[in-house]
Amino acid sequence: MKNPLESLLTKQRPSRIPIWYMRQAGRYLPEYMKLRQEEPDFIKFCLNSKLCVEAALQPMCRFDLDASILFADILLIPYILGQKVKFEKNIGPLLEPINFPNFLDKYDINNLKKLKPVYKTIINLKKNLKPEVDLIGFSGGVWTLACYMLAGRSEPNQESAKKFMFSKTEYFDRLIDILTETVSEYLIAQIEAGANVIQIFDSWSGVLPATQFESYVIKPTAKIITKIKKRYSEIPVIGFPRNAGAMAANYATQTGISAISIDPNQPFDWVKKNIQKHIPVQGNLDPQLAVVGGVAMFNAAENILNNLTENGLVFGLGHGIVPQTPPENILALTQFVREWERKH
Ligand code: CP3
Repeated sequence: MKNPLESLLTKQRPSRIPIWYMRQAGRYLPEYMKLRQEEPDFIKFCLNSKLCVEAALQPMCRFDLDASILFADILLIPYILGQKVKFEKNIGPLLEPINFPNFLDKYDINNLKKLKPVYKTIINLKKNLKPEVDLIGFSGGVWTLACYMLAGRSEPNQESAKKFMFSKTEYFDRLIDILTETVSEYLIAQIEAGANVIQIFDSWSGVLPATQFESYVIKPTAKIITKIKKRYSEIPVIGFPRNAGAMAANYATQTGISAISIDPNQPFDWVKKNIQKHIPVQGNLDPQLAVVGGVAMFNAAENILNNLTENGLVFGLGHGIVPQTPPENILALTQFVREWERKH
């Protein structure tokens, strides 16, 4: 029998409500902060399988979760494509400016081999997971990767990436093609190593006009999924087109995705009618509720469970767990969902 998460994503009845949380490993866990001291350079940390296996397992020791997510970062892709990437304390990622078209001309898919340590993390992580726990591999969506590559940092409205997209469209399209091929092969390699569910993080999809959402979120995602399915037809792919609004409905029906991670602001009725009619959803508790905890968190969780479990729900947050989150709240939230299920 398949595991709870995999069952739900492949349209079978799961033995229980699958739960996992975006960014379930990381800075809100004191044991992660301690482990992190062993390798101050975050890129090097991500390329150290031993440390990454341990980081991925930390939340699994604390909480009763149905999936473990590979510990790595979406910015390993710009890094292996030849762009310098570093992570600065209290700032976040900093990427060196790209020289066009040289950067595009020196593209070589073989650079993906530099990510062997990531595949090793998957192989060793799998050995440490209970058989009923799924292993999620991931990548950034191509638009989101392009955002970081073009702005060189986290930029709230993505002006830099949008300006480049509208003014240097030819270069931009080539960059998107390169990223589409790279992400496809990267995810296939993760599946080969043992990931049995994939998530694509398109964290910045919500800033795009509808036309460009079609071209740079829906189309590349559909291409990536077609490529994956050709090799591994059974592997479910969860999409996270953050803040996509009404475009999430097009994303659900036009990409071949198995489930969508929805935002906290998407109304239940709209989700049921436009997404759950086709595929299951994942989410969608506001991450700040997990910071606050208590009655506010439980009420909101119950509301999600009452509304979305009937037609396929992976319980989780609408975005990643933030560093200020007390781990006890994640424990209480997970126990609350298990208890709710026992009563229903
Ligand atoms: O459990 C997990 O999910 C851990 C694996 C993971 C990380 N990043 C580790 C990480 C995953 C799945 C990601 C995805 C990721 N990385 C996204 C998509 C999800 C989202 O949050 O929208 C994005 C946009 C990034 C890029 C990134 N990486 C940023 C902007 C930052 C700095 C701020 C932040 O969010 O932490 C990172 C660093 C990063 N990635 C850390 C971790 C644990 C913190 C590094 C540290 O200082 O120890």
